[in-house]
Amino acid sequence: MLVRLTVSPIGVLDVDVLILPLPETGGAPPQVDALAPVVREWLADLYATGEFKGKLHETAVLHRPEGLKARRLMVTGTGKPDKPGEPELRQACGAAVRAAKKFSAQSAAVCLFEAAPSSVTAAAEGVLLGHWEGDVYRSKNDRKAIDTLYIAVPNGDPALARAVERGCILAESQNFTRSLVNEPPNHLTPTVLAERARAMASENGLECEVLDQARMKQIGMNSLLAVAQGSAEPPVLIVLRYQPQSASADHLGLVGKGVTFDTGGISIKPADNMDKMKYDMGGAATMIGAMRAIAQLKPAVAVTAFIPSVENMPGSRAQRPGDIVKTLSGKTVEVLNTDAEGRLILNDAITYAKRLGCTHLVDAATLTGAIVVALGHIYAGVFTNNEAFGDKLLAAARRQGEKLWPMPLDDDYRDLLKSHFADIANIGGRWGGAITAALFLKEFAEETPWIHLDIAGTVSYDEGKPYASRGASGICVRTLADLALNW
Ligand code: BES
Ligand code: ZN
Ligand code: ZN
Repeated sequence: MLVRLTVSPIGVLDVDVLILPLPETGGAPPQVDALAPVVREWLADLYATGEFKGKLHETAVLHRPEGLKARRLMVTGTGKPDKPGEPELRQACGAAVRAAKKFSAQSAAVCLFEAAPSSVTAAAEGVLLGHWEGDVYRSKNDRKAIDTLYIAVPNGDPALARAVERGCILAESQNFTRSLVNEPPNHLTPTVLAERARAMASENGLECEVLDQARMKQIGMNSLLAVAQGSAEPPVLIVLRYQPQSASADHLGLVGKGVTFDTGGISIKPADNMDKMKYDMGGAATMIGAMRAIAQLKPAVAVTAFIPSVENMPGSRAQRPGDIVKTLSGKTVEVLNTDAEGRLILNDAITYAKRLGCTHLVDAATLTGAIVVALGHIYAGVFTNNEAFGDKLLAAARRQGEKLWPMPLDDDYRDLLKSHFADIANIGGRWGGAITAALFLKEFAEETPWIHLDIAGTVSYDEGKPYASRGASGICVRTLADLALNW
């Protein structure tokens, strides 16, 4: 779907559906002077009867609206506040596009009477995120895509054109991530993930290097390799580099968990819902998508992504509970549960990122079931060893309307990771599992300012949303790009 800005008056827009975001007023309809009297009466009736209240995600459609060239007028609710915030506008636009796809609209326009650049960006993001579908493997697909969507604004301020472009880059990068995350695990192996990252890098002017098993062995990434050894699929460490023309002294490292399928290994998972473990490379895809956005939006800070990718399988070569591995950092880890594999691949990537000069680190990982118990499927957990850095990321998340919640990381929990035979154990017992997992990673980040995002609960929408297809959510891509842009 192509998203284009237009300053044409809404009456002349020749589209299948003209989308009008409207607030919840609690009774009287909002005044829309640009509409013909008879259309305004239709609106008044909708609000009066409560058929349309302006609630978020609510839509209503009028056919052949008088005074408009559009075949239909669709109102979409933005919820309570009179002037919608960006998160509401983003979702309202997404919900409208999904409703329009149900009647196979091929062209559409979103009408913004008050167009601040930030609302234009949010609208562009909303329509693109709403338009995306996760069903590319279905052979019969009768749903038509929208070819072109116009964002109609009252003036031709060049800042608005840049705002649309920014929204498109961010949302398309998020959709890129969603498409990767959704791939089935037989198609998306670590090798294929590396190929996809390489293709993205060459399209966007990023440097890409893929370390293979032999190279990783030479370097000493034994912890990462131990997870991979149970699978016939070879592991990779993907490195993507963005170097701006004039950069600050800082160097941001993005580390993403790329387990293309997590059976649990010898500590095997129960069969129920094991299919969801194809999403266990969600952190990796998040960082690859964020790098795509960063390559196009060109922030003034150097950013390098480190993506360790493996398949976690049981088998005669698989690692065993009780194994002790020597990590790249030199620290030894006792593997008490092979299903706590994310931290085993991440620690080596974190150490490597530091060795390559990263001054700040963010990792994203579908790391623990415990974060789902703590925060459900709405908020992702944020852990950090540096509050000021964490606050920067939380501010970026607020700007992007993404729900991230700070979690504790006190050393009081550290005893739970004690090992009798090695420097640290890879599990910390039943309680506070998301925190002990984060504390494990902190041992390897050491003094480097570092943030860990546990996205296990938010990586996908199992049932879909009014504004988003079922499947991968792409959460954190926009927040990470925003963090780099506002460095
Ligand atoms: N990939 C899982 C975490 C996960 C769980 C992601 C549910 C998405 C939904 C991770 O590798 C894992 O299995 N973690 C274990 C750790 C435990 C053995 C300490 C868990 O959370 O049960
Ligand atoms: Zn696991
Ligand atoms: Zn996992």
